[in-house]
Amino acid sequence: MRKIPFGPNYDEMLNPEKIDSEIRKEALKALKDSELDPINLFNITWKDDNNNVRKIVLPKELTGVDANIVVMLGKGFPSGSHKVGPAYSTLIEGCVDGDINPGEHTILGPSTGNFGIGVSYICNLMGYEAVVIMPDNMSKERYERIQKYGAKLDLTPGSESDVILTLERTYKLKENPKNRALAQFELFPNYRFHRYVTGNSAVEAVKGIGNGRVACYCSAPGSAGTLAAGDELKKVFPECKIAALEPYECSTLANGGRGQHRIEGIGDKMCTLIHNVLNTDFVVLIKDEETVQGLKVIHDGTEALVELGIERSTAEYMKELFGPSGICNILGAIKMAKYLKLGPDDNVVTIATDSFDRYNSVMENLNERYLEVEGFVLKRWAKDIFLHQQDDYVYDYRRKDHKEKLFNQKEKDWLKFGYTKEYLDSMKSEDFWENEYSKVLYYNKKIKELR
Ligand SMILES: Cc1ncc(COP(=O)(O)O)c(C=O)c1O
Repeated sequence: MRKIPFGPNYDEMLNPEKIDSEIRKEALKALKDSELDPINLFNITWKDDNNNVRKIVLPKELTGVDANIVVMLGKGFPSGSHKVGPAYSTLIEGCVDGDINPGEHTILGPSTGNFGIGVSYICNLMGYEAVVIMPDNMSKERYERIQKYGAKLDLTPGSESDVILTLERTYKLKENPKNRALAQFELFPNYRFHRYVTGNSAVEAVKGIGNGRVACYCSAPGSAGTLAAGDELKKVFPECKIAALEPYECSTLANGGRGQHRIEGIGDKMCTLIHNVLNTDFVVLIKDEETVQGLKVIHDGTEALVELGIERSTAEYMKELFGPSGICNILGAIKMAKYLKLGPDDNVVTIATDSFDRYNSVMENLNERYLEVEGFVLKRWAKDIFLHQQDDYVYDYRRKDHKEKLFNQKEKDWLKFGYTKEYLDSMKSEDFWENEYSKVLYYNKKIKELR
């Protein structure tokens, strides 16, 4: 059996300054010149070379709200999205547990894209064969990247909201004892990575901004891993409200909706197993076309943005930072800042999972669908979509009967995969989530010992 190349533990992903300084230096160099060097495992972090969280505070000329909207940027992670974090965490926990061994097991990654890219990348670095199971109708840049990193593709019919088919396919492939699934929708390393690493990075990200606290955290769940950062934020800032955003066209949490939509990476027609619904205060619906139009404004509408009063350098800098789900999160943050009537001292934190580099084809498609995407149209869109975004389609989920609705959705989605009612009921207690979270300490220790 080959030796497992261990990377950082959770603590080092949150605090990369704790990594041996020579290794960190080498890793930062590899991030620029040698993407497939396994030392890049040590670049799985929200922090830049100076150990600051990569983020942007959006200009108020764009958001039209007094509150500070702080967007954490996933672009700087190796492979170009933060989804590499859950992929690595799930694989390394499996290695620590002795459940996954190189040369013996093939890794399965059910995904709509970015998790698959992360799985393919991580398996390349750690010496595993990988198969990514995903719908056949996602942006073509995703398939290209997965193949570039070496994983095989196993495609199921459909697009974003057909992810359940990828799960069913994964369950079938798992019958082969050689296969191990990094099941992002149901395994808790995804929860642990985001609650510990993303959540505590968010706490740092707001230092020196407004009152230095977080009034609201917004995230559109795919697997709902990223949403788990909110659990940590609520612990640190008890007043923090958590909003789960969904496509208006596929409003599963809000009202069981199950339509097709264009926001790649989110709105997967389910309440995932790792979604702690106890902490979901609001469900907010975002129109998918607004996210694609909004992306067009940010990417191609520099002049329109400058006319709104945004500094040219900021408008230029923003061009590459977001994909449609990042725009979705920004629109959710604007809605929540309005809905909660937040002021200049208040911070809303949200996330850009990936960036523009995998959405050229989405822009080409938009250009084909619209007869006019001239400067004056982009200016109108900038105003309509960002500046004048309304606080409509915000549903308050703090009441017990609303939580019950989400628990019922979870049962509907997961009993069929063999989870018992008793297990699902145990998730109705905070203790369940604290217990899962506390395992971070065990894995921190074990990863260091085995390295
Ligand atoms: C582009 C994009 N945005 C958002 C998400 C949702 O993140 P999470 O799965 O942590 O809920 C994903 C997940 O793959 C994604 O690829």
